Formats: sequence, structure tokens, C-alpha cells
Amino acid sequence: MSRKIYEVREISYTYPTGKMALEDISMDIYRGELVAVVGPNGAGKTTLLKILDGLIFPQKGEVRFMGKPLTEDVLTDEKEMEWFRSRVGFLFQNPDIMLFSPTVMEDVAFGPLHLYEKEKALAVTEEIMKKLGIYHLRDRHPYNLSGGEKKKASIAAVLALDPQVVLLDEPTRDLDLKNRNYILGLIGELRDRGKTVIMATHDLRAIRLADRCYVINREMIFSGRPRELFSREDILEEANLEIPEIVRLLRSVGIEEVPLTLEEAAALLTRHMEKCGWGKLPQDAED
Ligand SMILES: Nc1ncnc2c1ncn2[C@@H]1O[C@H](COP(=O)(O)OP(=O)(O)OP(=O)(O)O)[C@@H](O)[C@H]1O
Ligand SMILES: [Mg+2]
Repeated sequence: MSRKIYEVREISYTYPTGKMALEDISMDIYRGELVAVVGPNGAGKTTLLKILDGLIFPQKGEVRFMGKPLTEDVLTDEKEMEWFRSRVGFLFQNPDIMLFSPTVMEDVAFGPLHLYEKEKALAVTEEIMKKLGIYHLRDRHPYNLSGGEKKKASIAAVLALDPQVVLLDEPTRDLDLKNRNYILGLIGELRDRGKTVIMATHDLRAIRLADRCYVINREMIFSGRPRELFSREDILEEANLEIPEIVRLLRSVGIEEVPLTLEEAAALLTRHMEKCGWGKLPQDAED
């Protein structure tokens, strides 16, 4: 089986208003990868994810999903549509679009009830709601949830179907620290379970988790590993992203290498201090 999940070739998309949201975008997404799509507001990230989810179709270029063309024609075939929908889950940027039932439980159960017989569907729904810590909200109207609760409910609705490919539009937006940590952990877990995850994000911590990232601003402006991205001030500036503070700290003492974690930063700093003859950092000095 091909390792390529998506092949995107020079696609352009213009909205009916005449606004060109994407121009000549190409990318390859491989099985099991965690990919971040980054870019400033209005860069076309959501438009790109909608194309990868077969909701809209580029006027120019080609998208293939697991080798098959992802076109309007192909998806009008009910079997093809079912095949595609059972493999790809999409978390919308705005949870209100995804939550439309009278209760949270019904929303999360909506997909499973289409896919499985009732008993299994309800068991799967309960399990994912418990995992995401929203089981106590099961009888509430989704309209009355907080932003973070809505986000978790819509993530549960996507994951309840256990899709092979997960498209996440701003998965950590509107979440407090605890829930953001939890969702970042969940994204890592999806990758560890072999899922292919593509997320649009502005969250530096989410970007750090990624195997690869694409930065777009209507056109493709960068593709590479997060570490390379964090060393490219020009690209970070165009993407309206802050240079990570640990990178700025190390630069201020003359270290050009780019750490991804605090542990890496501490190791780089210790090595630098030893080289400069400043001795060791206090916790090492006690040894
Ligand atoms: N339905 C639409 N009709 C017309 N123009 C649209 C529509 N949806 C988005 N656009 C425009 O297309 C461009 C790309 O929008 P998109 O939502 O893809 O950006 P984004 O990168 O997801 O931004 P954000 O970070 O704010 O979510 C923007 O200029 C936006 O105004
Ligand atoms: Mg968006």
C-alpha cells in the first residue's frame, strides 16, 4: 500500500466572491505523519483543509487521496463518498458548525450511529466522551457549552469514528492551559497510534509536535521541519508567529542552534557556558 495519503499538485482556489485563497499549492502527506499547516489569518489554511476534506474543489490543479483523484465527480458516487468519509475526519475551526443536535451525547453519537449498530455506537460514544472528560455534559444542549467544552465535544464527534486521517482546524484555540495540554497530548497519541494528522494552527507548541510543517500565505512560503522553521525569522514574521522565547534567549547569548524543548535549551546553554569557561549551571555544579 502506498505510503502517500495526499498528493496535492499546484492547486489554486478562488471563492465565488473572486477572492483567491490559494495559489499553486503543492504538498505530499505520508501515512502516519503529523503535519502542521501554518500561516497568518486569512492565509488559506481553512480553505486548504476543506479541500483535503472534499468539501470544496480547486479550480486548478489536482488532489489525490490514497491514489484516487479527489474530485466532485468521484465524491458524487455514494460508495466512493462513504469510502472517503469513513477514512477522513474533520474538526472545523468553529465548533458551532459541528454541533447541531439537542444534546452533546446525540452530537457525538451522530457519526457512530451511521456506522455501527446501536449498542456498539452508544458504547463507542460513551467511551470517547469519558476519555475527553465531557461525559458529564452528555444531556446538555451544545449551544450552552463554553468555548472549550464545545471544542472538546466536536473533537469527540470526530474521534468517535476513529478515522485514519484526521484534519484539525485550530485544535487548541479557545482552550485553557490544562485543556490545551490535554489536546496536545491527544494529538501526539493519535500520531503514536499511526494516524495521519494534518492540523492548521498558530500554536507554537502544536507546531513543535509536528513532523513537518507547511507555511502558506495564499502561496506556499515554506516547507520543512519545525526546527528549521524556528530558525527562519523571515518566515515566522510573514506567518505572524513569534520567535519562541527560548530561541530568543539562546540567540541573546550567541547560541544559534534551535532547541525544540526546554531540556534541549538547557543542554545547549550548559555546553555553551562550559565552552566559555563559565562553569556549570548550578544544578550540575552540586554533583
Ligand atoms: N466563504 C468564503 N467566501 C469568500 N471568501 C472567503 C470565504 N472563506 C474564506 N474566504 C477568504 O479566503 C481567504 C482565506 O481564508 P481562510 O479561512 O482559508 O484563512 P485561514 O488561514 O484559515 O485564516 P484564519 O487563521 O483566520 O482561520 C481569506 O481572505 C478569507 O477572507
Ligand atoms: Mg482558518
